[in-house]
Amino acid sequence: MKHSLTELNDVIRNRRSIFPKDFSSRKVHREQIQVMLENARWAPTHKMTQPWAFEVFMGDACASFGHDHAEMYKSASGDAFMEKKYEKIRLNAERSSAIIAICMKRDPEEQIPLQEEISAVSMAVQNLHLTATAYGIGGYWGSGGMTYSAEMKSYLGLTEADRCLGFFYLGYPDIEWPRKKPRHEVRMFTKWHEE
Ligand SMILES: Cc1cc2nc3c(=O)[nH]c(=O)nc-3n(C[C@H](O)[C@H](O)[C@H](O)COP(=O)(O)O)c2cc1C
Repeated sequence: MKHSLTELNDVIRNRRSIFPKDFSSRKVHREQIQVMLENARWAPTHKMTQPWAFEVFMGDACASFGHDHAEMYKSASGDAFMEKKYEKIRLNAERSSAIIAICMKRDPEEQIPLQEEISAVSMAVQNLHLTATAYGIGGYWGSGGMTYSAEMKSYLGLTEADRCLGFFYLGYPDIEWPRKKPRHEVRMFTKWHEE
């Protein structure tokens, strides 16, 4: 065996979504995020378009981003505005040690279908999340708030063809590492053809 399958299985199966309400004040370091991003860039990418793009908010920039995101929601929501949602957007950011905006930058030649570019970014995020898990750092991919809005696109300097796919909130958990959420058995989603 070339690599430790036991270690690999452990990291993959122990990866969990851990939410900002459960983050402690312990800081995630820039060097650790650098390693997460290094691993992210080794995701597969059709025609090597490497469509992932990340904006990292750390330190005071987390709260500023949270404020901007919440205000963006307030301006856009009109009569549908909910104070609870505003506060959730703001507090998720304030409680995080770092936030990574997950973006897809469309290849100008549009050589491959959009879903393949989004798939490549998703695989990069999985690499990032598994790396965080190996450090004992918690995180989750949040796609709420203004993720898919034109306002967020403009805030992040994205073009019409690009996409914001969400935000990865990072922090050390101050709870026991959560237990696995049950998944369907392999036999329930797999059909084998052997003859
Ligand atoms: C593309 C994507 C978007 C997600 N958006 C949200 C979200 O907006 N809010 C949320 O609570 N969880 C979100 N999640 C995390 C899922 O809730 C989580 O992965 C799921 O509950 C399984 O838990 P686990 O990651 O601990 O295995 C998202 C996950 C993915 C892949």
